[in-house]
This record gives sequence, C-alpha cells and structure tokens, in this order.
Amino acid sequence: MNTKQVDFSLRLALQDGEPCGALFAKEEIAGVAENVTEARDRIERGRGKGPLAFLELPYSYGSSDRRTAFGDTFSQTLGTIHEAANRIRAARGQFVHVGIGGSALGAITLVTALGVTKSMGYECPAEIHVPDNVDPDWIGELLHRLDLTRVYANVVSKSGDTTETIATFALLLEVMREKSNLSPAELRRRIFVTTNPEEGALAELARSEGFTILPLPDAIHGRFSVFSPMGLLAAAVAGIDVGELLEGARVADERTARAPFGDNPSLQFAALHYVGLTQKGISNLILLPYSNRLRTVGDWYSQLVAESLGKQGQGMTPVKALGVTDQHSQLQLYIDGPKDKLVVVFSVARHAETLRIPNSLASNSAYTYLAYKTFNDLFKAEREATEVSLHLHGVPNCRFELAELSPFNMGYLLTVLEKTVCILGELLSVNAFDQPGVEESKEYARAMLGKSGEQYDQLREIVAKLSK
Ligand code: PA5
Repeated sequence: MNTKQVDFSLRLALQDGEPCGALFAKEEIAGVAENVTEARDRIERGRGKGPLAFLELPYSYGSSDRRTAFGDTFSQTLGTIHEAANRIRAARGQFVHVGIGGSALGAITLVTALGVTKSMGYECPAEIHVPDNVDPDWIGELLHRLDLTRVYANVVSKSGDTTETIATFALLLEVMREKSNLSPAELRRRIFVTTNPEEGALAELARSEGFTILPLPDAIHGRFSVFSPMGLLAAAVAGIDVGELLEGARVADERTARAPFGDNPSLQFAALHYVGLTQKGISNLILLPYSNRLRTVGDWYSQLVAESLGKQGQGMTPVKALGVTDQHSQLQLYIDGPKDKLVVVFSVARHAETLRIPNSLASNSAYTYLAYKTFNDLFKAEREATEVSLHLHGVPNCRFELAELSPFNMGYLLTVLEKTVCILGELLSVNAFDQPGVEESKEYARAMLGKSGEQYDQLREIVAKLSK
C-alpha cells in the first residue's frame, strides 16, 4: 500500500462523537458489515476483466509496474494528452469537450473541482466548454462566443452513435471548416476523438479524417470512465496534475480493495446505502456538497448511483443540492418531511481563500457575533448547523471531508465512490454497468428522427399508437 498521506475522511455513525448517522445504530451497520465485505471480495476477485476492468485504469498508463488487462492500449496516451494540453494552453485555446452523460460528467467534475483559479495565483490560459446538452439556445450561444481560430475539440462517445454528441460534433466541425480559415492539416490536429478504437462509426470517421483517436475501450463504461482520456484530456487542459489524480485513485483503490470494514470508506458508505435501502425505507439520496467546486461531484455521483443501481424496482433517487444555498430552499423538507432520506455532505477543510467578514458591523449589537469571523468560519458553522439539525431530527447523514481540494484527494474520493457503487450493485444483484432504460430512450429518439430499419419502424408504430 502506498504510504502517501491520505488527506481524506469519511465520517459515519461508526465514529464516536460525530453527529452523523442518526437513524443507523452501530449494530445495524455492523449487521451488514460482513455481507458488504463479502460483496467487495467478490468484486476484487472479478477485477481486471469484463466491466470491472475500469478499476485498472489508474495503473494502465505505464506509470506503474502493474500489468493490466488493457495491455499497451494506453501506453502512448498520457504523452498524447500532455502534448495536446500544452499545445492548447500555449495557444490560449478554447477547448470544447463534446459528450453527454458518462462521457461528459467526469470531465466537468474534474475541471470544476480542480481547474486553476485566480485564488491559486494564476489562471488557466485555456477556456473549457462542455456542451452536454442539445438545447439550441445554449449551443447557439456557445458558437457565438467561440473564436474559431482558437478552437480545439475532444469528441467523446464510446459507442460512437450517441445522437446528441454526433449532432454537436457535426455542427462544430462544419463551422470550423467553413469559418475558421484553418488549413485542413491544422484542423485535423485540433480534433481528438475519444472512442472505442475497435468499432463504431465514430472511430471509422476519425480514421478517415485523420483525427487523433484516444482510446475508450469497450470494457470501460461511460460513468466509470473518469480516469480514461474522457476525463484526463480536459483535466490536463485545465492545468490539473493528472499524475497526482491517478496516484490518489491508486491509493484509494489499494485501500478499499484490502482494508477491513472499520478502515474502509467504500465498505462503510455502501453499508449506509444498504441499511437505508433494505431496513429503513430510504429512497432518496441527498447529495449536499458544502463547496461550489464540489457541486458537480453531486452531479457525477447522481449519475453513478441512478444509472448503475436504478434497476428491477431498486435504487435510490439522488437529489442534487448545494450547501449553504439549499439550506434556504430544501433543508426544511429534509428535516421535517418524510423520513426517507440519507444525506451525504461533501466538504473541504482548507479553502484556497480566507475572507474576513468586516468588523465594521460589530458596533451594531445585532451583528456583534460576526466580529473577527471569516467567511470560512461562517461556511463551517452553517454546515455543522445542518448536520446537528439533521441529527436532532433523526435524519441519517454522513460526511466526506477533503483536507483540501487537490488532484490526489479528488482521485481518492472519486475512486471510493466508484467502488461503493460496484459493491452495491453486487449486494443488490443488479448489473451496475448497463443502462437499458437509457438505451431504450436513445432508440426511441432515433426512431422519432426517422432512422430507417425494421426495429425503428416498430418503435414508430408504438409511438403512433400512444399518440392516438
Ligand atoms: O454512463 C453511461 O454509460 C452513459 O451515460 C453514456 O456515457 C452516455 O449515454 C453516452 O454514451 P456514449 O459514450 O456511447 O456516447
């Protein structure tokens, strides 16, 4: 196990003195510890093959001695990513990551949490845009804002046939070709395609056009692809230390693969979900980061939980919220509404900024208590107040705390969460890696857009009957 200091903690009912996990007695958690640990062990035995191959991603770029199921698939990839990111940053490029769902959320999450800011003393020279929706107003607005001479793109689709991604890519490519005055050779150098290199229309198109392909092998499923080129190219463009990110992922993987229940955040977090689902009637998972930069971890984990576990009448409905903001919006319901919620707080102990609340207010007795306080004190007090209220009202809750926002800590956190979901899939006997409901809606959309073929004719008939 790597000896690097882990700046990370998960506070649960198991830790004395923490106002967490109010509805879950230690005995209830302990009662499932064995089941959860056995599920983890089954996963560990199956790793490296099939859909669990993604667990090997942090080891597969050649920076570790471990031989992975991906062989040399990724041996050149980090070099290509760094070279591309340096070029894009040097050109003060506008980097457009085109993808949706699992092919976008990892990139969005990394860039939002770790992208450099003025607080860190310098700014990212490149702009990053992730059009992960096909709202014409939004896409149109982006096109108006792009300076086409500075645009670079990473088009991400494992299947290569997600309609939204392909349509957005087609539009971007057309405007780049028609309006940028870039030579065909330069245009080719600016487009990266992250897809399954072995099959699919997108890989074929990339090869015929001469775009650089970054591999997203069949075994890696969209929402588990954050440590593939899907997440890493955007991260590198944002100036994030990709090596540290992967190191955090490796350390978390090693710990969660072996550590016993009492020292294993994935096992403990899975146990909270499992007790909630099977014994407590918990159906809502409230994701409440007290950090604007971690807001998109809520989006990312929502997808992971919803698409992986929402099957056969099972699953928890994720609710994305933000502390402090949603204390003034949803907290009333969490505290006093139906007791069907597990609240998961994400927090950061050390912020990049320390902001003082001006003492000028202190002369007014109504505000004296704010004298000599900082926004950091305020933010922490608000978070603790929420945790205490949840506790006093019997609402189960737990907290992931990062000592600071760093690539290592983010790699660690995301890995703990990925492994939690794998364990839960095993415990609930569902395939955590498919998404038949999503595929069904993709097929209906294609049918409605007129795709030809017998299967689409049948779908159109169903739709026609429904609209009668
Ligand atoms: O997590 C998933 O598997 C999905 O959200 C996919 O990532 C999403 O549907 C996009 O698929 P693709 O990468 O094939 O374009």
